Amino acid sequence: MNENGSDISDIRPPVKVVEWTGDERRGCLRLLEQTLLPGETKFIDCKDAPAVWEAILRLVVRGAPAIGVTAGYGMVLAAQSIPDGAEFMTKLDEAAEYLESSRPTAVNLSWAVRRVLRRAVESSGDDFDGVRRAMLAEAKDIHAEDEAMCLAIGHLASPLIARCSGVLTHCNAGALATAGIGTATAGMYVAHARGHRFGVYCDETRPILQGSRLTAWELMQAGIDTTVITDSTAGQVLREGRVQMVITGADRIAANGDAANKIGTYPLAVCAARNNVPFYVAAPYSTFDMGLACGSEIPIEQRAAEEIVEGFGRRTAPVGVKTYAPAFDVTDAELIRAIITDRGIIEPVTPENVQKIITG
Ligand code: MRU
Repeated sequence: MNENGSDISDIRPPVKVVEWTGDERRGCLRLLEQTLLPGETKFIDCKDAPAVWEAILRLVVRGAPAIGVTAGYGMVLAAQSIPDGAEFMTKLDEAAEYLESSRPTAVNLSWAVRRVLRRAVESSGDDFDGVRRAMLAEAKDIHAEDEAMCLAIGHLASPLIARCSGVLTHCNAGALATAGIGTATAGMYVAHARGHRFGVYCDETRPILQGSRLTAWELMQAGIDTTVITDSTAGQVLREGRVQMVITGADRIAANGDAANKIGTYPLAVCAARNNVPFYVAAPYSTFDMGLACGSEIPIEQRAAEEIVEGFGRRTAPVGVKTYAPAFDVTDAELIRAIITDRGIIEPVTPENVQKIITG
């Protein structure tokens, strides 16, 4: 409850990013077309695994947790198009690998795909529709859990946000990137609902502008004071003391706490350290990859050159110029003040503390 007596556990995202309709045989996955935001609010229907694969690659749906939820349902769509018979499980295995190949960095994707596949294997003594039903139940569980994990992160992060008059974030680790109220934004939504007032600086986030197109859009809908800055303005904002913390999401966190997130996060963390501003990461347990010892083992997705030289349809670099377009960079654990997870706060960020909070 907040001081006005309203229930903050009821904070809702502004729009449904991922929605399943129908049953295990004829269901359909509806996705918010995020490439059109903030101009248009449109949805697309995915009826098979290739449509899901393309939607993930094209960033119709993006953000590690939302990609995971989507891919979980993608497995159910794959199972719908595989005929009953001896080949069923082999084809499901292939579908899992296929969906995993859409984007390599966010570990939530393979985490969700493998979970739904495991459930299929466990129920494989049932009839084929029984297996599909079990897979859909698992995908729905993943969806509901993600929403709950965002709220848990929000409750833990809110007291940190409440100490600040200004907060800086990068990319979109918001409601649009999850099934709930986001990860980096979750504490902002909870603190705001509790009556705290603060401003959020959103890095626009080159090249695809998730910060200005998405984070600014959703924060403004919630009535949070929002300022968009170019990525290269962040250093000046930090130096001028306009923010007391930086908080971002993550796509994959290694066992030592090194965290991959949208390209530009690492220089932001370096600059925050230089200016004595604490840098936080917010992420659910599903973003941890305990099989990787450190961040240099995290696979980094390379994006198409067009996103840099012809973003949004206008040529901004000479034809034929070379590009280098990693979608993510890795921030060293030592630059991160704490990682706020649904299972607790990891502080300081050491391999021992990561192990303790994430695997208990
Ligand atoms: O390329 P994107 O838009 O999928 O990148 C998203 C990010 O980097 C987010 O910060 C991350 O996935 C965390 S989302 C809660």
